[in-house]
Amino acid sequence: MSEAVQGKYLVAIVGAGPAGLFASKILALNGVHVVLLNRDILPGGLAEYGIYYDKLKMKEGLRRQFQQILDLAQIDYYGNITVGETADISLPELRALGFQAVMVTVGAQGTKWLGLPGEGLVGVYHAKDLVFHYNLLPPYSTREFHIGKRVALIGAGNVMLDIAHWLIRDLKVDEVISVVRRGPNEIKFTREELKYVVCNLDQQKFDAEMERARPIATEVGQDVDEAKDFILSTLPKGLEPVSSTRFYFDFLASPSRIVGNDQGHVNGLEVEDTTLVCEEGEVQARRLGTKRLLDVDTVIFCIGDKVDETFGLPVRRNAFVKNPNPRFPVDGISYEAYDPDLNLPIDRVFVAGWSREASSGLVGVARKDGENGARAVLDYLQAVPHLMNPGSVLDEFEKKLERLNKPIIQKSDLHKLAEVIAEKGEKSGQPGFKFPTNEEMLEAIGCVEPKPEV
Ligand SMILES: Cc1cc2nc3c(=O)[nH]c(=O)nc-3n(C[C@H](O)[C@H](O)[C@H](O)COP(=O)(O)OP(=O)(O)OC[C@H]3O[C@@H](n4cnc5c(N)ncnc54)[C@H](O)[C@@H]3O)c2cc1C
Ligand SMILES: NC(=O)c1ccc[n+]([C@@H]2O[C@H](COP(=O)([O-])OP(=O)(O)OC[C@H]3O[C@@H](n4cnc5c(N)ncnc54)[C@H](OP(=O)(O)O)[C@@H]3O)[C@@H](O)[C@H]2O)c1
Repeated sequence: MSEAVQGKYLVAIVGAGPAGLFASKILALNGVHVVLLNRDILPGGLAEYGIYYDKLKMKEGLRRQFQQILDLAQIDYYGNITVGETADISLPELRALGFQAVMVTVGAQGTKWLGLPGEGLVGVYHAKDLVFHYNLLPPYSTREFHIGKRVALIGAGNVMLDIAHWLIRDLKVDEVISVVRRGPNEIKFTREELKYVVCNLDQQKFDAEMERARPIATEVGQDVDEAKDFILSTLPKGLEPVSSTRFYFDFLASPSRIVGNDQGHVNGLEVEDTTLVCEEGEVQARRLGTKRLLDVDTVIFCIGDKVDETFGLPVRRNAFVKNPNPRFPVDGISYEAYDPDLNLPIDRVFVAGWSREASSGLVGVARKDGENGARAVLDYLQAVPHLMNPGSVLDEFEKKLERLNKPIIQKSDLHKLAEVIAEKGEKSGQPGFKFPTNEEMLEAIGCVEPKPEV
């Protein structure tokens, strides 16, 4: 390995989701040797563990693209390694090893708590955890979730619809209510995702809700019929219902408290009525002080995520802080990590993808952001000399990994794992087959001994 990297630039990328993978490709094709570290055993991030599990064709297409990237000789992959203040390796340790730049593309792994009373009750969840659960990401895959029969989903984005899809078509709960703090004209989901659940829409409730919102929306110059048409125009393409779940919207409602029973389980969601106001050219929700109780036993927040605050970079507005005056902007965007307390850029550290802007956009957007982040890194590298001895940095890095005394997944392991997964899927007739635990993945490729049967 030492010889292969002689005279090269050496960059560590943390996080092998779409942003990190496509960033790796750009760097590798420009003469940089990339060390790609990933918390999960499998690469892909939310493309593997976020995109709805039955979108097999899309997932397979992305896996193929990711594999092609990882097959580049200039990229080393190290899976099952978490970077963080109290994790396998910290960001300062990584920098101290001598990588010329570190690019952080770890997505948005933190949780946006609203600080509402009752958030700790059994039956209150955040969408990401459930998405990871049904997509079989360890350890969420085997975690227990108490989903009742009447579920409030906070938010009106595509994640809300993915969760509604699961609740309506898989779990077949009685009721799913999308609780939306603004009005019908502020929904953020797409028709493509609505088609899975639109035929479960309770049309009477829907019409009544639209009429309730109409005067408020009209006051701010909106026409609720546009939103109504948008939603109802999906009906002809809607999938045949497989459950009698009633799906409806509760607009102009902001969650204020989650009510629990004696056993500490959810048995209601209190919402505060809102109205719409125009502020700085945007339609905003303003709370009215009047409150209502929704009869639900489960509350799921689908309001986007924030970055992990224990990663080791300053956080502001749900994402890592960027240098406001970037030295290497790309399309006017800053990819440089920044310390707002010291008012200084964090030397050699770059951020991209959902780590730069949390919960924003599709895989294509993360790809472009990763690629542009890589271009910022390349601009930066122009100003620094080649490493005299990159091989020794890699040797030190590998020694550090050895001391962790845990199985680390490399590219040859990924190939083996892909083969076993494909074989298992074929044999069991499950095309989307996945191992639900790290132990099973590691056993399958001979990284750990199988547990003796009891
Ligand atoms: C529920 C859901 C469904 C979606 N469905 C679609 C869809 O159908 N189509 C579409 O185009 N887009 C979809 N998206 C959006 C898409 O998945 C994202 O735009 C994209 O994955 C973001 O890429 P990223 O690389 O920035 O982050 P992520 O995909 O989150 O990747 C982050 C990577 O970093 C790793 N990591 C995290 N923390 C650490 C750490 N501390 N140390 C080391 N590694 C770490 C993780 O293992 C992961 O591999 C969906 C998103 C969600 C939430
Ligand atoms: N199949 C797909 O293509 C797919 C699937 C899933 C996700 N994605 C993509 O992934 C990204 C993230 O999706 P997302 O659904 O998490 O985010 P999103 O589209 O931004 O939707 C978040 C929703 O939560 C609401 N919300 C935020 N903070 C709130 C609060 N404090 N109280 C009440 N409501 C609050 C928002 O309302 P306001 O509008 O009022 O802020 C909005 O309705 C999007 O780009 C999405 O398109 C794509």
